[in-house]
Amino acid sequence: MKKVLLVANWKSNPATLSQALSLGTSVERAAKKARGVEVVIAPPFPFLIPLRSKLKAVGLGAQNVFWSDGPYTGEVSPKQLASIGVDHVILGHSERRTHAGETSEGIKKKILASFAARLRPILCVGEHERTGRDVSAVVGAELRAALEGIPAASLARLTIAYEPVWAISSTPGAVADTPENAFRVKVYIRRILSDMIGQKKAESVRVIYGGSVSPANIRSFLTDGEMEGALIGSASLTSQSFSDIIRISSQR
Ligand code: PGA
Repeated sequence: MKKVLLVANWKSNPATLSQALSLGTSVERAAKKARGVEVVIAPPFPFLIPLRSKLKAVGLGAQNVFWSDGPYTGEVSPKQLASIGVDHVILGHSERRTHAGETSEGIKKKILASFAARLRPILCVGEHERTGRDVSAVVGAELRAALEGIPAASLARLTIAYEPVWAISSTPGAVADTPENAFRVKVYIRRILSDMIGQKKAESVRVIYGGSVSPANIRSFLTDGEMEGALIGSASLTSQSFSDIIRISSQR
């Protein structure tokens, strides 16, 4: 059985290094007690090295990466991340698609470069509207545009985060999706992946859920929704709520 993957997406939080170290330390304490759970913290770039030096029992993720090193002012490359002990990278988050102009073409280049550096990409996909939503049109198109042409052997190491944008806490009026709907989308994602890389390899791709995950709903996403983990934003910013999510996931 695959371990449950819990990724703390800190976004541009917290404000200072000392807050980041203190939050990271309490997350590690909870992670050490958990069984069958893989915990990854994805902090802002400046906190990656100090967190890596301090924390041994949690994985580290970046929230973005560029596709190359070289003359690209302001960018960070996959090799640079790998060289400091980062293992995961979140790509195509809706906040980056909206605020930083991320395109599927660019996301594909980032996924390829991340695989080449042996990072584990987490590709975020999800529809914007809850009402009249056309999950298959948006999720299917985002998956195909970002993944087509990437070798099947690499894709088997991918994680997909299904994040309906309307359910992400930064969207006004956000509420979590239902586990039942998340499950339906997971099945759909697996079908698209099966078409692209064959059923066996598609089975090894983890599908996780993101969007207002909390201690109150994590259990049902893992059990009723059969999600293989979660990408957690606001509830990962307080040590109590994220530790609770780790503990509950460990007991599922
Ligand atoms: P949220 O964020 O848990 O605060 O809804 C999830 C995400 O944006 O990845």
